[in-house]
Amino acid sequence: MGKLDGKVAVITGGASGIGAATARLFAAEGARVLIADLQHEVAEQLAATLPDAAAVRCNVAREDDVRAAVEAAVSRWGGLDIMFNNAGFGGASGPIEETTVEEYDMTMDVLLKSVFLGTKYAAPHLRARGGGAIVNTASVCSFEAGVGNQLYSVAKAGVVMMTQAAAIELAEHGIRVNAVCPGYVATSLPASRPRGEYDAEEVEAGIERVRGRFADMQPIPRAGEAEDVANAVLFLASDDAAWITGESLVIDGGLLAGRPWRKLSGTITKRREIALYRPR
Ligand SMILES: NC(=O)c1ccc[n+]([C@@H]2O[C@H](COP(=O)([O-])OP(=O)(O)OC[C@H]3O[C@@H](n4cnc5c(N)ncnc54)[C@H](O)[C@@H]3O)[C@@H](O)[C@H]2O)c1
Repeated sequence: MGKLDGKVAVITGGASGIGAATARLFAAEGARVLIADLQHEVAEQLAATLPDAAAVRCNVAREDDVRAAVEAAVSRWGGLDIMFNNAGFGGASGPIEETTVEEYDMTMDVLLKSVFLGTKYAAPHLRARGGGAIVNTASVCSFEAGVGNQLYSVAKAGVVMMTQAAAIELAEHGIRVNAVCPGYVATSLPASRPRGEYDAEEVEAGIERVRGRFADMQPIPRAGEAEDVANAVLFLASDDAAWITGESLVIDGGLLAGRPWRKLSGTITKRREIALYRPR
């Protein structure tokens, strides 16, 4: 028996990376999966490989698209049990004083407003089922500002607070709201997906390069894989997490536990005399 037998899930950004790995895992655990993504053809190809899945074209920054994605799942399978608000991109980069208001708006719309919209339109359907689970994709950048992508961090910090705010509001309806906060994960996002036509080989080559680059960024000496995050999403979406809500679970190979110390690991691991305080 699967952990999600008979459940209906919407996954935004489900065509690639963390969303695609989650779509595959959810399907393997018995869920029916609607993949909502800008990359519609890729999403359709993935859906065709899963037992009971479909794809819709969706820009998560647009209210009508998010509402339509949720409704597509409800009309196809009769309800909704899980909403995974996951779609994202790198957002504006560069100094704040050179960032345009348009770039600011686009960053917040795709990374933060999307989570608000996904929650807003999923909640009534989850309530109608007597409960359900919302999982949002935040980031380690929710807790630590990144250099060069300041607004990404601002938006992802907002995702953590949106998770907590929705969790306390929706708990009485049996709806749990949690977030995953990935560290450095080898997907097309950090690999700077090529613009224009989707080229699977080029994407894979880019991901392979970031695997190498990320290997020593965190105490566990390898890049995160999309499946590492998908496993946590499954946990939070399933009944295994029945008493967990408002949580933002960090999945980062230990990055936030002490990244600066890794660089000094020689100093840490070398045995030294304990420097006792000796009163004179
Ligand atoms: N990869 C990492 O290191 C990392 C770290 C922390 C957080 N994240 C977050 O994980 C989530 C998934 O990213 P990923 O790493 O799997 O990258 P990815 O690029 O492989 O997947 C992102 C997916 O979102 C889709 N998407 C982008 N903008 C969209 C929009 N406006 N509407 C609908 N779909 C859209 C893309 O088409 C793509 O399929 C994002 O929210 C990202 O910010 C990633």
